[in-house]
Amino acid sequence: MTELLTLSPHNPDPELIRQAADVIQRRGLVAFPTETVYGLGANALDEEAVAKIFHAKGRPSNDPLIVHVASLDDVKLVAAEIPPVVKKLAAAFWPGPLTLVLPKQAHVPASVTAGLDSVAVRVPSHPVALALIRASGVPIAAPSANRFGHTSPTTAQHVMDDLNGRIDMILDGGATSVGVESTVLDVTREPAMILRPGGVSREAIEKVIGAVDLRNNRPNSDDEAQVSPGLLGKHYTPNAELILCKGEKDSALEKLLGLAEQAQAQGRSVGLLLANEDMASFESSCIPYPLGASNDLEAITRNLYAGMRALDDQGVNLILTRDFGKQGLGLAIHDRLLRAASQII
Ligand code: TXA
Ligand code: MG
Repeated sequence: MTELLTLSPHNPDPELIRQAADVIQRRGLVAFPTETVYGLGANALDEEAVAKIFHAKGRPSNDPLIVHVASLDDVKLVAAEIPPVVKKLAAAFWPGPLTLVLPKQAHVPASVTAGLDSVAVRVPSHPVALALIRASGVPIAAPSANRFGHTSPTTAQHVMDDLNGRIDMILDGGATSVGVESTVLDVTREPAMILRPGGVSREAIEKVIGAVDLRNNRPNSDDEAQVSPGLLGKHYTPNAELILCKGEKDSALEKLLGLAEQAQAQGRSVGLLLANEDMASFESSCIPYPLGASNDLEAITRNLYAGMRALDDQGVNLILTRDFGKQGLGLAIHDRLLRAASQII
């Protein structure tokens, strides 16, 4: 049985937090809201508790976890060395959606870091997450609280849909505000390297510490017209087939319109994961999920995963979407859409 507790996102009830912290201390699993997506938490220093995370998610053990702590001061509980850039980055972005990869302390279980000698750490800003970490009194390892390979959850209901019966408790603190995962920045190298774009933009990081590298996560360059689906780093996928149309907005919409007509002629149900104003040109028989105004990247980011899940719930066969550039949060949107896509045109 999975217990569901509902809390105020701003002012979580200390008694409910205590109950959740008890579960963590007894080696259990608690899903909790962060500002990015819901996490599936366990005591990061307890090998047995951490093993349960991998089992509940069906996650392969070669994929390391992020450790969540309550303050910059507590980073030393898991990191052996704190390079000088960490202070600057923490002052600018913590608590918040930035994860830093640092040299690890020997006592951090190898299962947390997948055998690497580094550990990924962040201080989340969500009051429920912070309260849970503090009350538990230990660093909390937490991947996104979804079944492996599925879209990350941005509501407690999403977690329920994926993990009900497989974990001890879910804390419902409402929908998350950022909507995609944290930016993962490796500060063990010089210059630092973004391993995963996310809630803090590359531009914002570069304002604080100067130029950083960006890992090319694609087996093929993402500028190729067609990426072989078999080679895609499939990871954040809806159940429906998702086609991503890259390039300039007007020509992308025109191509998507053709695909929608073709699919509907074949009797397929078509969902649209697009900006509000993109919807106008499509047949009313398509199912729209308006992400927000096309110039409001925060809204588009916040609604992206929720949109994939909502369209899946409505049983569409095909989801059509487009790119929103690579500026600011656009880079994280681009990355997640590439991973979710069955086809890129
Ligand atoms: O926003 C987030 O980051 C959410 C919330 C719950 O905090 N968590 C999350 O965790 O997205 P997960 O497990 O889904 O993604 C963790 C990412 C993976 O891409 C993993 O490869 C990377 O962090 N990572 C973890 N430890 C690492 C390490 N030592 N070196 C390099 N990458 C690491
Ligand atoms: Mg994940």
